[in-house]
Amino acid sequence: MQTIIKKIANKEVAFYFNQSLTNMEDLVKVSNVIYITDETVFAAHQQKFANKKYIVVPAGEAHKQQQTVDNIINKLVAFEADRNSFLVGVGGGVITDMVGYVASIYMRGVPFGFVPTTILAMVDAAIGGKNGVDVGVYKNMVGTITQPNFLWYDYSFLTTLPHAQWVNGFAEVIKHAAIKDGNLFTQLQQQTITFYKENLSALDQLIQQNVAIKTNVVIADPFEKNERRLLNFGHTFGHALENPYQLAHGHAISIGMVMAAKISEEINNFNSTDKERLLNLLAKYELTLQINYDKPTVFNILKKDKKRAAETINFIVLNAIGSATVTPIPLVQLNDLLEQVL
Ligand SMILES: NC(=O)c1ccc[n+]([C@@H]2O[C@H](COP(=O)([O-])OP(=O)(O)OC[C@H]3O[C@@H](n4cnc5c(N)ncnc54)[C@H](O)[C@@H]3O)[C@@H](O)[C@H]2O)c1
Repeated sequence: MQTIIKKIANKEVAFYFNQSLTNMEDLVKVSNVIYITDETVFAAHQQKFANKKYIVVPAGEAHKQQQTVDNIINKLVAFEADRNSFLVGVGGGVITDMVGYVASIYMRGVPFGFVPTTILAMVDAAIGGKNGVDVGVYKNMVGTITQPNFLWYDYSFLTTLPHAQWVNGFAEVIKHAAIKDGNLFTQLQQQTITFYKENLSALDQLIQQNVAIKTNVVIADPFEKNERRLLNFGHTFGHALENPYQLAHGHAISIGMVMAAKISEEINNFNSTDKERLLNLLAKYELTLQINYDKPTVFNILKKDKKRAAETINFIVLNAIGSATVTPIPLVQLNDLLEQVL
């Protein structure tokens, strides 16, 4: 068990690693806590919620909508939740995004914490304070940036996490290594998902390394003016492919990282041996490297990307394994690269 306190955007956020949900009672007054989780997590871990106040919402991205937020708020009102209440989101990124949002608007803000239960939420979604909901098909259109009081890592939740969700989460782990940490990249080359599933202390160490990478980037740039953009490596093309081709997020990001690596080779002298290392690592962690896609369709979606500024997209290129840069690429050039390189 280890505790780390990080100051993010003037707020102290505590990270409690390798904990059990039951011990959280030492941290927050039980009578004030309202747990919010989804149906899948609740069904798999019902006993953990015994004798607690909880709200259960339908699982999945399709429910990351204002309607679900309104339902949660109605239930909070029914519980007579007030400013002394403490919300705890227990789930994947969909739950942590929604609970952070609800907590930041309910009674103009109540304190909250997260128990992330997917690899993706543990290393990425639950960290950094970005929260919100989708509006129809438009992802994360509404939300705030509000930091939680704490993140509580209880790895026993992972015993029920489907393998496909482990793979999804490792796309972000590989992304972190590719943009920030060459040693982590080498470590990942030597291991497999099965190894991390079977070795709790190695998993704990891996999660902590990734938390450090993401928190340090967020601390340097909490409102995504510069450094935090690096976390979008692979996401420009990944997001453009994810919905039209109904790809799981991790696979979409993996394909996006392959495309970004090829563009890095073309315009940023990223060396081809390192590009092959990245491709091999993604394949080793069971991620997709390429699909057939319609270039005009993808380009049309790219033009609507949030990272676009006028006729330019802030694109993330690799300099080397463990080092990345934001490079503005004119849309015209990106279209040429799409036609010629990808
Ligand atoms: N706020 C941020 O900075 C940020 C960053 C990255 C991603 N996100 C968001 O995160 C979301 C994706 O997160 P996710 O991949 O965790 O999705 P998710 O929350 O939908 O979880 C994936 C699936 O796994 C199930 N699940 C969760 N934990 C489980 C467990 N322990 N055992 C069994 N099943 C379990 C869920 O019910 C769901 O069906 C997206 O909405 C994305 O926009 C946010």
